[in-house]
Amino acid sequence: MDENTKIDQSIRNNSSDVLMYEPSDLVILMRQMEGNLAHIKTTLDAGNPIDEEARQEFTGIFTEIPSEDVIRDSSYMAIGKQFLDNYEQLFTATDKGSLRHIFNSAVSNCITCHQNRCPGPIKRIKKLAIK
Ligand code: HEC
Repeated sequence: MDENTKIDQSIRNNSSDVLMYEPSDLVILMRQMEGNLAHIKTTLDAGNPIDEEARQEFTGIFTEIPSEDVIRDSSYMAIGKQFLDNYEQLFTATDKGSLRHIFNSAVSNCITCHQNRCPGPIKRIKKLAIK
């Protein structure tokens, strides 16, 4: 293979990679959730109160368009609801001492849903847990 053919092929491979990897709306929302929880973790690690501005609407986990292979079965819906309940408690809990515990429960719900379904990001998600 001469140099030009090689370059041609690499251009073709790159452009097909771009075409293949078009993140779904659900993936985009998940990345926002990850960023939002990372922000809250930093806040809690610093011993600061969680600002109301950090509160986001994540009911899109039930409605945003997923990748083709994702099926939102009843277990997905149940874990999703648990996650949102936990998340809500971060902003409503009166016992501020329990926030770290509530936060870690929310992170375990992320992980529970990902097991068997989308295991790729689990290692990344585990890093969110507060030690
Ligand atoms: C109720 C189930 C469920 C919950 C809860 C959940 N996820 Fe997801 N997550 C999924 C599914 C399914 C996908 C794949 C979506 C797709 O491909 O369209 C996904 C995708 C992702 C991705 C995308 C990976 C990539 O391709 O970039 C990240 C990151 C992620 N989730 C992080 C999280 C974090 C962090 C939490 C908790 C704050 C969380 N998820 C909670 C089911 C869930």
